[in-house]
Amino acid sequence: MWTCWIAAVWLLISTVDGSKLFPNLAENAALYQSLGYEVCPDSAVELALGRRDECKQLLDIIVQKSRLPKVWPPPTAPPEALAFNYTLGSRVRVFDWYIVDGKGEDTSAAVEFPVSLVEAYLERAKGRSTEIGYGVQISSVYAALDAHPLTGACAVHGTQEPWVEGILFARNAKSVLTVEYKNLKCTFPDHRCMMPPVWAQAVADGKEQLVDLAVSYSSWEHDGLGRYGDPVDPFGDLITTSAVACSIKPGGLLLLAVPVAKVDCIAWNAHRVYGPVRLPLLLANFEVLGAYWAGQSFHGDFAGFWEAMPERCEEQHVTQPLFVLRTTPHRHGCKAA
Ligand SMILES: *[C@@H]1O[C@H](CO)[C@@H](O)[C@H](O)[C@H]1NC(C)=O
Repeated sequence: MWTCWIAAVWLLISTVDGSKLFPNLAENAALYQSLGYEVCPDSAVELALGRRDECKQLLDIIVQKSRLPKVWPPPTAPPEALAFNYTLGSRVRVFDWYIVDGKGEDTSAAVEFPVSLVEAYLERAKGRSTEIGYGVQISSVYAALDAHPLTGACAVHGTQEPWVEGILFARNAKSVLTVEYKNLKCTFPDHRCMMPPVWAQAVADGKEQLVDLAVSYSSWEHDGLGRYGDPVDPFGDLITTSAVACSIKPGGLLLLAVPVAKVDCIAWNAHRVYGPVRLPLLLANFEVLGAYWAGQSFHGDFAGFWEAMPERCEEQHVTQPLFVLRTTPHRHGCKAA
């Protein structure tokens, strides 16, 4: 009788591994499996795509989507037919946070990132200024780059102002490629800018060298919600993330920041907030080396990470921990190909 109790308690303790970022993945194993993913119990990659990543296919989706007509005004709710995949079978709560940015006007007009602008961010980054980008939160970017120093070619995905670019140049990046939906004119030495479909085509054709490090700060949580006139796609964020992984050298790094909370939500159409169900999908096939948030850093041992996240998604879109992710070789599910 007592040995039975002791065994039961031990089983309970041993099945909840607090050191993992996703200790409860097995609870939703069936859901992940239905979407083509596999839970990997004893692996540095906790969730893997069940099939081999098809880079050309992923990059081509980005090219094809850009050819679809802009939908304006954006849909005010997720289309009924796509509800299951948006909510991952009612595990992700949808609430209303509807935004119409501008009038859906032509955004093809060039925006310049002149030398002086990048230089100003570079100078502030040298002094570890927290008065750029997302304010004090960006100390996460400094800390992540302290722990993982730069070695070569870098890319930034999604940019309003070139503050990440300034930080990378301050850390002696050999080159920086900015991939952004605006038509940017970039003139700082070794800084190039490209629109996503042009970039995706170039990577697919092998005309763009693979980078050592890519950074995306507060961008992909919008992908596929239609806010910018983009086609609605429940998996827009996952496709973009996997496609970008295809543009990073094997073993190279992705620094990724998105809104995170203890629960999963979609604030339609403003952004997604990633919780314990959706976040594993976004980080699938990567090895999660670390997470940085509000002066705390978690490396290999993620106990305490979720406690540091907000309880609710409402009124919050600024809790954006920074994940340091390492790309892994092509995979067949949990096994490297
Ligand atoms: C959800 O997405 C998967 C993968 O793309 C697809 O096979 C499935 O048909 C979708 N389910 C629904 C209910 O739309």
